[in-house]
Amino acid sequence: MISCPTVRKDVIRDHYNVSTLFYRLLWGEHIHHGYWEADESPKVAQRQLIERLVEAAQIERGAKVLDVGCGMGGSSRYLADELGCHVTGITLSPFQRRWAAMSTRFRRSAGQTQFHCADAETVELGSRTYNNVWSIECTEHLFDKPAFFRRVAEWLRPGGRVSICAWLAGDAENLQRPEARQAVYDVCEGFFCPSLGSSADYQSWMHDAGLEITRVENWTDNVARTWEICGERIRRFGMHRVADFIDRGQHIFLDRFDTLLDAYRTRAMEYGAFVARKPE
Ligand SMILES: C[S@@+](CC[C@H](N)C(=O)[O-])C[C@H]1O[C@@H](n2cnc3c(N)ncnc32)[C@H](O)[C@@H]1O
Repeated sequence: MISCPTVRKDVIRDHYNVSTLFYRLLWGEHIHHGYWEADESPKVAQRQLIERLVEAAQIERGAKVLDVGCGMGGSSRYLADELGCHVTGITLSPFQRRWAAMSTRFRRSAGQTQFHCADAETVELGSRTYNNVWSIECTEHLFDKPAFFRRVAEWLRPGGRVSICAWLAGDAENLQRPEARQAVYDVCEGFFCPSLGSSADYQSWMHDAGLEITRVENWTDNVARTWEICGERIRRFGMHRVADFIDRGQHIFLDRFDTLLDAYRTRAMEYGAFVARKPE
């Protein structure tokens, strides 16, 4: 695991309060990578990433799902609309909570989604509450990741599953290179991640929490194009000038897009999907 001790939780919250509009303009309703099989549009690729995780997690119709780090509510809406799930989304950002709630208000599935502003590291959700805990690209922001998986194991009903997509530090061999460790550190700093774990770290955290791992996938090559497209859009739309007006603090974040793409290419970083099951 690579850590960046300067990252603070209030800064993560502020980042999502301010930058959600950036993400919407730059990328769309989902704040996560796309998954490419061929030449799909970014919108299709974003949806494919969700579909692949649904398939890996075997989410059943009508399941009760917790969406941890729900962003603008994109996954929650998908799960409610397409699978009739009953979804509770939590996000650290009050701005995102309002956005997610507004964007589901007039949909057929509106009664099946609810959104709360809450910290996944402290929120009380009761034990044996959910069939699925779903989290796309949020665990990167958590300070105590092993403790989070112990909480997940508590929230899940027996037989329930947790499904995670996460940015990862590369494997131990790749991280022997100082420039690889520096690249992961730079990504942590630029994207407000207190640490990034490797695939092996995630597997041991889930295992130690009493969860049985059923799927581990490396999607790095399928998702990396996200940053080529975002980098190109930043330049085309003059996002640095927008940041000058809205929040100069966004510059470091915009500057690290190329670092992340390079880190995927050199395997200093990977992108992983994990599914684990709570035993009956
Ligand atoms: C990269 S975005 C992903 C959003 C969403 N999952 C999606 O795919 O569109 C990260 C999300 O994690 C949330 N987050 C970060 N730290 C959190 C915490 N401690 N508790 C709850 N949510 C958190 C942010 O507010 C944001 O919604």
